[in-house]
Amino acid sequence: MTMVAALSLLPVSRFRPSCKFCSKKSVGGKGGLRVFAVFGEEGNNGSVDKKSNWGAIFHVDVPRPRVQPSNGKFLDAYQALEVARMDIQYCDWRARQDLLRIMLLHDKVVEVLNPLAREFKSIGTMKKDLAELQGELEQAHTQVHISEARVATALQKLAHMEALVNDRLLQERSSSESTSECPTLTPSTSSTSSNPMRSKSRQRSLNVAGPVQPYHPSLKNFWYPVAFSSDLKDDTMLPIDCFEEPWVIFRGKDGNPGCVQNTCAHRACPLHLGSVNEGRIQCPYHGWEYSTDGKCEKMPSTRMLNVQIRSLPCFEHEGMIWIWPGSAAPTAALPSLQPPPGFMIHAEIVMELPVEHGLLLDNLLDLAHAPFTHTSTFAKGWSVPSLVKFLTPASGLQGYWDPYPIDMEFRPPCIVLSTIGISKPGKLEGKSTRQCSTHLHQLHVCLPSSRQKTRLLYRMSLDFAPLLKHVPFIHMLWRHFAEKVLNEDLRLVIGQQDRMINGENVWNFPVSYDKLGVRYRLWRNSLEKGAEHLPFTIQDN
Ligand code: FES
Ligand SMILES: [Fe+2]
Repeated sequence: MTMVAALSLLPVSRFRPSCKFCSKKSVGGKGGLRVFAVFGEEGNNGSVDKKSNWGAIFHVDVPRPRVQPSNGKFLDAYQALEVARMDIQYCDWRARQDLLRIMLLHDKVVEVLNPLAREFKSIGTMKKDLAELQGELEQAHTQVHISEARVATALQKLAHMEALVNDRLLQERSSSESTSECPTLTPSTSSTSSNPMRSKSRQRSLNVAGPVQPYHPSLKNFWYPVAFSSDLKDDTMLPIDCFEEPWVIFRGKDGNPGCVQNTCAHRACPLHLGSVNEGRIQCPYHGWEYSTDGKCEKMPSTRMLNVQIRSLPCFEHEGMIWIWPGSAAPTAALPSLQPPPGFMIHAEIVMELPVEHGLLLDNLLDLAHAPFTHTSTFAKGWSVPSLVKFLTPASGLQGYWDPYPIDMEFRPPCIVLSTIGISKPGKLEGKSTRQCSTHLHQLHVCLPSSRQKTRLLYRMSLDFAPLLKHVPFIHMLWRHFAEKVLNEDLRLVIGQQDRMINGENVWNFPVSYDKLGVRYRLWRNSLEKGAEHLPFTIQDN
């Protein structure tokens, strides 16, 4: 796809010379630049070099475009970048001219006030000369301010061009890895923008704006981990919201977990307010009891009826409780989320967060924000790299961060796995994860609870210091640290969510380090559109 950038070709150089230090000969020909300076007195051919030693500073060629302006107003990204480069070059030249003009005016003031010259001039003449010079200086200062504004605009334009070129590079690289990565997406909600920068890049942008839409049914057809096994004792009930429906998980008589609707069939009382008796959940209102498959097995004080509440396929696997909330038949195999061999699990933490799960995933799949956001926790003291990249050598949804020793993977439908090379907790070292001798492995599961609520399951494992696990109250320390890190993100993501609901696109301007987050969105969009083959995944079902 040829990227085009709608860039106005109006030259930045429309300054009209108005003072006696300017004009005489045009540079650049018809339609070219018309800004130039003549040094020295009016009517003289004097130059800076004659009058002063400023030549080295001001001897700069007037910039000329390398790209010929096209009659149409659309340029490709490289041409547009070249135009932006010329803008900057021109600004540099213009600034030098402005400075020169002020310096020459300063010389003239000195000259007018020269005691020797004063002897030959009347007071009236001197006043007139000084008043003229004052006017010239005012003009020169105005010109400096115009140049300032022009520099700011040129820099903005350059940044935009750079983003376009980076995007293009990203796209070219991605398309060689997956032919299905096409960032032109139909928005899930619509938003119109008056922002010209946004409209220029619209065709490259994702559009994630507006109120969170109802979850697409196809997103439900996955196995979702919803709890850690260790949190589900024989007599506990875990209420969870999943895709905007309330469920409750408890263990049956055989010890296996079950997941039933958290609403009593009798009069809709929340079941998790009751208790578990002999593998049945008992409603606290009138005592009806349900087994893990949702069948009502006891109805005290009345004639027994055939009543059943909804239940979901529910299994325990590798220390987690999994459910299948979709209407399609569950896949045969439950995924594995175990840390790699050699790691020991040190913390399992569950948090209910007031953000849509996609926004949380976007955040977790982004590392470039760390030195700006996590300045009180793990990224304290990190320098800001000149370039952050996410490289995906193996498959489309997993890779590693450069320059950080961190491997990361998005595992559909809502899971992020990462391995971080460390020397001691909180300190990064080395250039790649493998070069580090000790590692931290993280699992983040972002369960879509409701449109603005996520149930986050976090598991942290280490491949060193196994004894840490036995330090009293260490789990409290891990929890404190995890919450502190998350709170640094959360205030930002909640702010994004507010803006998104009011119509802002949270993926307005993706750049190269947003690759993994963008791919997650592309994957999700394809799924919700019912695509036969989802991008970046090897489908085994
Ligand atoms: S509401 Fe549950 S038993 Fe009456
Ligand atoms: Fe973060």
